[in-house]
Amino acid sequence: MVINFWYQLTADLSWRIAIGCTTFAVVLGARIDKSGGQVKTQVAIIGGGPSGLLLSQLLHTRGIDSVVLERKTKDYVLGRIRAGVLEQGLVGLMEQAGCADRMHAEGFVHDGTLISYQDQTFRIDFGGHTGTPVMVYGQTEVTRDLYQVREAANGKIEYNVEDVIIHNADGDRPFVTYTVAGDARRVDCDFVAGCDGFHGVSRKTIPQDVRREYEKVYPFGWLGILSETPPVNHELIYANSPRGFALCSMRNEKLSRYYIQCSLDDHPENWTDDAFWAELRRRIPKDHADKLVTGPSIEKSIAPLRSFVTEPMRWGRLFLCGDAAHIVPPTGAKGLNTAASDVHYLYTALRDFYENASDAGIDAYSQKALARVWKAERFSWWFSSLMHRYPDQSDFDLKIQIAELEFLKSNTAAQKAMAENYVGLPYER
Ligand code: APR
Ligand code: PHB
Repeated sequence: MVINFWYQLTADLSWRIAIGCTTFAVVLGARIDKSGGQVKTQVAIIGGGPSGLLLSQLLHTRGIDSVVLERKTKDYVLGRIRAGVLEQGLVGLMEQAGCADRMHAEGFVHDGTLISYQDQTFRIDFGGHTGTPVMVYGQTEVTRDLYQVREAANGKIEYNVEDVIIHNADGDRPFVTYTVAGDARRVDCDFVAGCDGFHGVSRKTIPQDVRREYEKVYPFGWLGILSETPPVNHELIYANSPRGFALCSMRNEKLSRYYIQCSLDDHPENWTDDAFWAELRRRIPKDHADKLVTGPSIEKSIAPLRSFVTEPMRWGRLFLCGDAAHIVPPTGAKGLNTAASDVHYLYTALRDFYENASDAGIDAYSQKALARVWKAERFSWWFSSLMHRYPDQSDFDLKIQIAELEFLKSNTAAQKAMAENYVGLPYER
């Protein structure tokens, strides 16, 4: 009993000394470099895209401090044109983050989508099958709203960061070093969130012998244009045509987004606007092609299609979120929405750690996030396989593809399954 008493006393004393020293060190640490070269935070977030900003803002709502380190400028990040279909899960997270007002005011609630093939068109009724719609609202606008709410809360975001290195991720005291205009900086933290996209440093911080990577590269790309024209239809149109895939989407009543499948060795400059419009007309249903309003493109680009997942999504105190961990072909509009579910799982895990001293969430993060990631990967692969023409497709393959479309058109259970995946599978508790 006596040993136990002394053990408890010294353990308690050493803990108090440790706390005292840590506090003193943190105070010192926060002040070591007057130029702000070294700071202490709870969560260091690499990447100021949708994942990093959403995580930072959600943590802020619970008083958890974070620093966002972004390689580019804010204008550069906002200059990216990305998909615009939001699942209800992401809509809910934007509401939780306190930045959903403009989305609700300017976004479009869609209860379904059209699918066309050969000379047939049918509608997938999201509301009828799931009771849930999707929100059509540009990802650029999501990111703009997140920047605005972070700045209003005086959130710490550093731009133009370079030479980011994550240290001690597998230890108890991780820290991040980086430079800004050659000035060396350091952030000491409890956790690091790798929200730095496919080309970031976070994923590569996990040792190669720990990481397992899965990839599928599709033999085509998407040529996309933005035009200040009214959308051809009030809902999206996904078209499988003998000439290849096409998609009619929108950003608002005066801004349309269109895509056509193209070869991987194609270039945007190979396409005049007129050539694009003529090809789009050949691929979408005739009644819509006849009423298509065309105009000058204000953006024209080609994106390759890839499926990619890295496992695990956690290594020590480093957690990967969004494109840093996985990529999907844009067919199912799952990129941003799967980043959002990662952020949901990581946010709730960190909240439980700080508020309830529980490691359960952070220990379960990778498994939970990956379970939903792989379902999104499956749906995106399935929908891409259904809607695109593949260079190596045999006549048999083509008959199977058309039979799959016929089945989807005629079978309620098949349509319900597609609708449930498209509007977004639930976030597991
Ligand atoms: N250091 C700091 N920032 C970095 C680094 C780095 N080494 N590398 C990349 N970044 C930044 C990028 O400049 C980008 O702003 O990380 C951010 C990552 O943002 P996204 O690539 O948008 O990824 P994510 O936030 O996960 O968003 C996922 O949004 O952008 C779409 O296609 C994406 O739909 C997907 C979703
Ligand atoms: C878009 O509006 O850019 C968009 C919409 C749906 C998709 C992909 C892209 O599946």
